[in-house]
Amino acid sequence: MERTLCLIKPDGVQRYLIGEVINRIERKGLQIVGLKMLVLSPELAAQHYAEHVSKPFYSKLVEYITSGPIVALCVQGHRSVTVLRSILGKTDPAEAAPGTIRGDLGLTKGRNIVHASDSVEAAEKEIRLYFNNSELISSKLALLDWIFRED
Ligand code: RTP
Ligand code: MG
Repeated sequence: MERTLCLIKPDGVQRYLIGEVINRIERKGLQIVGLKMLVLSPELAAQHYAEHVSKPFYSKLVEYITSGPIVALCVQGHRSVTVLRSILGKTDPAEAAPGTIRGDLGLTKGRNIVHASDSVEAAEKEIRLYFNNSELISSKLALLDWIFRED
C-alpha cells in the first residue's frame, strides 16, 4: 500500500484543527500509520523544503513552518499521494475548491494549514525525515475490504 506524509502546520495546530484534518483523512478511508507532534528545527525545515531554497518565499516559509508545534502523519492507502493532495486542495486556499481542507478552512498561501507529499518518491524521502521504521504501524485496517476493492 502506498504511503505519504501529511503535516498539520503550526496554524492548523494553533486553530485546533488537528481533529478536523485527521477526521477528513480517516473518513476518506486512508489509514494513519504514524503520528507525532514536534517543533521543526531550522535544519529539518531546510531539509523538508530544500526544493524551494531559491524561491522568493523560502525564508517566510521556513519561518512559518518552524513557528510552533506541527503534527506529522504517515498516511497509507490506495493511491494515497494523489488522494491526500486532493483532500488538501490547491496550494492557495483562496483558489482551493470548497470541500477541500484548504478550500474550506484557509485564506492565504502563507497560512494553508497542511502539507502533503507531491509524489511517491518525495513521500518516501519525507517519511524518512520524520519517522523511524519502528514508529510506523504495519497492520491492515480491519475494515479494508469495505473501503477498498480493485477496480
Ligand atoms: P506543501 O509543500 O506545503 O504541501 O504545499 P504545496 O505542495 O501545495 O505547495 P509548494 O509549491 O510545495 O509550496 C510550499 C509551501 O510554500 C508556501 N508558498 N508560498 N508566497 C508564495 O507564493 C508561496 N508559494 C508557496 C505555501 O505555504 C506552500 O504550501
Ligand atoms: Mg509542496
